[in-house]
Amino acid sequence: MFGTTIPIVQGPMLGASTPAMAIAASRSGALGSLGAAGLAPAALGQTIAQTREALGEKPFNINLFVLEPARPEAGQVARAMEQLAPYRAELGLAEQTIPNLWAEDFASQFDVLVEAAPPVASFTFGILSADQAARLKARGVKIVGTATTLAEAKAWQGVGADAVIASGFESGGHRGTFLRSVEESLVGTLALTSACLAHLDIPVIAAGGIGDGRALAAVLAMGAAAGQIGTAFLLSPESAISAPWRAELKDKSCDDSRLTRAFSGRYARGLDNRFLREMAEKDIPPYPIQNALTQELRAANAKAGRSDMLSLWAGQGVHALGEASTADIVSNLWQEARAALAQAANRYST
Ligand SMILES: Cc1cc2nc3c(=O)[nH]c(=O)nc-3n(C[C@H](O)[C@H](O)[C@H](O)COP(=O)(O)O)c2cc1C
Repeated sequence: MFGTTIPIVQGPMLGASTPAMAIAASRSGALGSLGAAGLAPAALGQTIAQTREALGEKPFNINLFVLEPARPEAGQVARAMEQLAPYRAELGLAEQTIPNLWAEDFASQFDVLVEAAPPVASFTFGILSADQAARLKARGVKIVGTATTLAEAKAWQGVGADAVIASGFESGGHRGTFLRSVEESLVGTLALTSACLAHLDIPVIAAGGIGDGRALAAVLAMGAAAGQIGTAFLLSPESAISAPWRAELKDKSCDDSRLTRAFSGRYARGLDNRFLREMAEKDIPPYPIQNALTQELRAANAKAGRSDMLSLWAGQGVHALGEASTADIVSNLWQEARAALAQAANRYST
């Protein structure tokens, strides 16, 4: 798929994936991805140019969040700031001021993306219009949409996507849901991949809970074009995560993560901790408001060497997590998957 030799997409991970990770993954034969949603338009253009220069003809993927400009009510922001004040005080942070920017402007990022034309572009949190998709296609960019339900996957096929990511609720990080509520869109990776394979004509990339080669083999045996894998790369030297987050990821079980809105206002899967529990019943403003308001808090918490107020994004495959380079993770996953597929073929051949 898309000129790769190994059916693995190293998942885009804002705050964790780096150009070094994407380059290493693509050089290994997988599709390397950059979580670029946090980049200002000028930086986005530079990053795409640098990644292309490093990879030559090899494919890579640039990922953005499809967002409308945020227009929060003053009262909503004031209440959210009040809720966070005790946590800021505990970390010795000054009184919060209203952020200058809630999130990067998607329309401006999109113009840069069209201009820079990376080999592949993937999207989450929303869907492109048919016009936007046509602009990318005219530049030869392959379009990949994130779906959490069959209806979302069909919508992506409808606007002309070249592939869809079937993102099960096992996935680490944010839910990409955009048609109905997240509560109504919690489908597991196997069921969603199977439904997408049955009803779509475009390649399906399975994502969520693929922590080892066994799980990758399962989705490839079903007919998925690739597995998109995020959590398994978090402990690599190419990962940008903080030391306390790294420490928390060790020796975790598949039931240690929760879906929470506490950190960003949008449901995301991360390891259980104090902030996640204490905010569970609170009234939290939507993404990107809460995300912007907790940014400084999370950075200060990590700087203090603590993890009790950190968003510890991780998927249900966290139990299989080991420390290795991005290149070794790709090659180990692929070797394990091939061995599992061969064993299954032997076991069940008649
Ligand atoms: C720390 C973290 C950050 C993520 N950020 C993004 C992102 O910026 N854009 C995106 O489309 N998906 C993002 N994801 C989802 C991954 O690309 C991938 O689909 C997911 O990790 C697959 O599930 P797994 O974690 O169980 O392997 C993120 C996942 C994690 C763990």
